[in-house]
Amino acid sequence: MSKNTVLTLVGSLRADSTNQKLAEAIQLNAPEQVEVLIHDSLGNIPFYNEDIDVEGQVPAAAAALRAAANDADTLLLVTPEHNGTVPA
Ligand SMILES: Cc1cc2nc3c(=O)[nH]c(=O)nc-3n(C[C@H](O)[C@H](O)[C@H](O)COP(=O)(O)O)c2cc1C
Repeated sequence: MSKNTVLTLVGSLRADSTNQKLAEAIQLNAPEQVEVLIHDSLGNIPFYNEDIDVEGQVPAAAAALRAAANDADTLLLVTPEHNGTVPA
């Protein structure tokens, strides 16, 4: 049976992030049939720009996130609250 993959996005880029540690604990303690992947290049993704969302111009980090989302079965957001909402 193939594993259920969980793409995990951490909403804090801070080196000592509590949320990053929480995501790593979830990854370590995942059931055997679940693979938790922590996406590690969110900090390289620019603000969305429809003008460059065309073949050959999509920023590499955005394309990588899109591919990871496409491959995953489930999305998990592990994030602090910033100013009453989730960070960008
Ligand atoms: C700019 C900024 C805004 C914040 N806004 C909120 C908020 O609206 N509500 C809240 O409960 N905590 C808020 N916090 C506290 C963070 O959620 C808290 O420090 C969190 O633990 C940071 O996560 P991290 O350890 O993964 O970086 C804010 C912190 C910062 C730096």
